[in-house]
Amino acid sequence: MATSQPLILPGAGPFALYTVFKVTGDRAAVVKQCQQVHQLVKTLNEQQDADLRASIAFGKSFWLGFEQGCPEGLTEFVELGKGDVTAPATGGDILLHLNSSRHDLNFLLLRQFMEPIADQLEVMDETYGFKYLDARDMTHFIDGTENPSTLEARQDVAVIKDGEFAGGSFVMLQRFVHNLPAWNRLNIQAQEKVIGRTKPDSVELENVPAASHVGRVDIKEEGKGLKIVRHSLPYGTVSGDHGLLFIAYCHTQHNFEVMLESMYGETDGKTDQLLRFTTAVTGAYFFAPSLELLNAL
Ligand code: HEM
Ligand code: MG
Repeated sequence: MATSQPLILPGAGPFALYTVFKVTGDRAAVVKQCQQVHQLVKTLNEQQDADLRASIAFGKSFWLGFEQGCPEGLTEFVELGKGDVTAPATGGDILLHLNSSRHDLNFLLLRQFMEPIADQLEVMDETYGFKYLDARDMTHFIDGTENPSTLEARQDVAVIKDGEFAGGSFVMLQRFVHNLPAWNRLNIQAQEKVIGRTKPDSVELENVPAASHVGRVDIKEEGKGLKIVRHSLPYGTVSGDHGLLFIAYCHTQHNFEVMLESMYGETDGKTDQLLRFTTAVTGAYFFAPSLELLNAL
């Protein structure tokens, strides 16, 4: 069976780095460096104790340049919502996702990755994520409770099983900027109704409101729950932008689309109440090929 990229299946360590690039120069040189990334990680892991892992993924229009065919259902991100509640589509050619137990080594790996190709690409977004408290989002609700936890479950949800793209994953990324003063004006009960779970210990409410976050994204199709593997982490500075870098992996892009349409009012007119307190400033889909296909590009 084809091998999924090393970051995807293990649970996330406490530090991540999410970098989105636009390729402006020598495509072949950039692709060659993408193929080096797991070797760079391996070398750093041999020198340092970091549990560093990476995944590299490509936006649709960049992927089509490989002439390898297109994973079924892969599209560029499409803007959603209306009025104050919108999800912009910002795209990107390449996503480098790093996760480790050390902030400094994520930084160092990105430097090593970029050094030989710095003139060939532009950084569209470089966001450092960190585990916050006991795995809470900055709303102070636990994030990740319903994430598939066993390796088998994560593999089942995140990785394409058969066909020419076996071992690959679809990736969705959105950077959210929170409005915490507005959020903190709600009392705990009101906050719990927005999320659909309890605040101290993340227990699902007996009556999950339809427009709560969980009410929007806990979706069944033909009796089966739609699942994704989330790798999101909080990011930012107190005085500047801060919030959640949402990122998830799935064997199909469909699950992301259904969840987003439900959150942004396109399914039944109801919008996710969480979006009153946080705004997406980026949005992109990528495809992370298996290690074997990455090396064959
Ligand atoms: C669940 C926070 C965006 C998909 C949750 C939970 C929290 C949370 C607190 C409940 C605990 C858990 O099961 O993890 C947030 C925040 C977001 C955000 C703060 C943005 C600022 C998104 C987006 C999607 C998504 C954009 C997908 C398009 C999910 C899913 C669950 C979940 C699938 C599990 C639902 C279940 O099966 O019960 N999120 N989320 N989230 N979220 Fe989000
Ligand atoms: Mg559920």
